Amino acid sequence: MDTLRFWLNGQWIEESSVPPTTTLLQYLRQNKRLTGTKEGCAEGDCGACTVIVIDKKTSDKPRFRAINSCLLLLPMLQGSYVLTVEALETNGTPHIVQESLVQELGSQCGYCTPGFIMSMFEACYRPDLDEDWKLDDQLCGNLCRCTGYRPILDATKAIAGTQPQDSFSSLLQDATPEPMSLSYQHGEQKYFNPTSLDTLWELLETYPDARFIVGGTDLSLEITKQFKEPQLLISLEGLGLSEIEEKDDYWRVGATTTLSRLEAALAQPFPTIERMVRFFGARQIKNRGTLGGNICTASPIGDLAPVLLSLNARAVLLSKQGERIIPLSEFFVGYRQTALQQGEILAAVEIPSLQTEQDIRSCSYKVSKRQELDISTVSAGLYVHISKDGEVVEARFGFGGMAATPSRATQLEQALVGKTWSEETLEAALPTLAQDFTPIDDHRGSAWYRNKVAQNLIMGFFLETQNEPQPRLPYRPTATVNLETTP
Ligand SMILES: Cc1cc2nc3c(=O)[nH]c(=O)nc-3n(C[C@H](O)[C@H](O)[C@H](O)COP(=O)(O)OP(=O)(O)OC[C@H]3O[C@@H](n4cnc5c(N)ncnc54)[C@H](O)[C@@H]3O)c2cc1C
Ligand code: FES
Ligand code: FES
Repeated sequence: MDTLRFWLNGQWIEESSVPPTTTLLQYLRQNKRLTGTKEGCAEGDCGACTVIVIDKKTSDKPRFRAINSCLLLLPMLQGSYVLTVEALETNGTPHIVQESLVQELGSQCGYCTPGFIMSMFEACYRPDLDEDWKLDDQLCGNLCRCTGYRPILDATKAIAGTQPQDSFSSLLQDATPEPMSLSYQHGEQKYFNPTSLDTLWELLETYPDARFIVGGTDLSLEITKQFKEPQLLISLEGLGLSEIEEKDDYWRVGATTTLSRLEAALAQPFPTIERMVRFFGARQIKNRGTLGGNICTASPIGDLAPVLLSLNARAVLLSKQGERIIPLSEFFVGYRQTALQQGEILAAVEIPSLQTEQDIRSCSYKVSKRQELDISTVSAGLYVHISKDGEVVEARFGFGGMAATPSRATQLEQALVGKTWSEETLEAALPTLAQDFTPIDDHRGSAWYRNKVAQNLIMGFFLETQNEPQPRLPYRPTATVNLETTP
């Protein structure tokens, strides 16, 4: 069995005496006494635990990534570089993000401030912070429960994207992460990080009941909130399944692609994906959470599935026997159940390219009690292809929060085909949605509310895409849709 090995604030650390389900946050505070990193929620919501890792796992340029250390299991760091808030001061001189926070009077309590600093640190070295909404997005995973955010935003604006040439930018260039491959055991608990498919298949023969993990932003909650101790975890992160490739008439996106890479790489070909990912978790979650993890949880309120269903995406499943490709609509077979068989993983998702010469409208919507960092009540990916005569050739409406699985509104879609794409047609057809879905009442919304929201989203989609076929960010609703009051 191997030793855990990673670089922390200037030193390589070797560790063999901690359970593999130890979070980086626990390790920093309890084992290393690096108490600048705080625990607020232990579930990825508050950002008090934010640290930086260097992401060099893909062919992209190396990047600093802010992540939630409360959800990161120590073995996920094998071979990686980590910076905590303690590392930012150089020879007694604060880092420019710290200076900026002081200048703008943004420094707050010792609980939230270190987390803000680390998110600002990522912002400082990001080359792509070119729009205001990206700054909000950068900071929305850091909460302060007491005071205002304006000075913090001002301090972030002052340093965002400045990419200073300093010891940190040199580190970014010079850091040479070690192989991620790992077989780690502590007591009865085992954690494997295979770096080849052959090793994965061998492991699965020995441990058929092992659970897969990638970003851990879903699975780690079982450890931090339900205090479970999974005995056998196999990470899929080292298998090289994170490439994004444009093929002849579709895009192939590796399952372990993180959401922040997905958001950036697919913004042009699929603005509807970028729009949904903007309101998906926070930057720290998107820097770890993956496309495959989101789909494989098969959550009825997972936010990517409705969009991908509307884009007619396909799931590429891989086992020792080879690949099989199925429509994503056949991947979700029941409440939190997928078509994956034992010994099979999700390797990639294929998304047909949008035919730009055709009249295609597509957009995505997320309705939740809070705009940012909240779980969807209803989410939707909506797509329509309209003929030169203004008639619907094909409609694909994917919904989350309306059934036990993310699903398409097939009856409504059929009812629209051949009809004129107009407000009158929609008004007449929208009640058909009741044949597609019988949503549940729960604390996020009643069945009546969900039905109403779903109908209103389709009408809103019609209105919003009249002038701009694929609306981009930020959300600028062009129309108000009347919400009737609950009967
Ligand atoms: C604070 C917070 C906010 C969040 N916000 C949102 C949100 O707005 N919208 C949303 O939809 N979700 C949200 N999530 C849920 C989660 O972040 C996403 O579902 C994420 O995409 C999961 O990816 P992961 O790699 O972290 O999955 P993991 O936790 O690593 O895995 C999740 C599950 O999928 C399985 N799995 C993962 N990859 C594969 C694969 N390639 N093949 C087979 N099985 C696999 C694992 O075995 C596990 O059962 C949020 C989570 C947190 C903690
Ligand atoms: S402790 Fe709140 S996000 Fe990690
Ligand atoms: S949580 Fe730190 S000042 Fe509010």
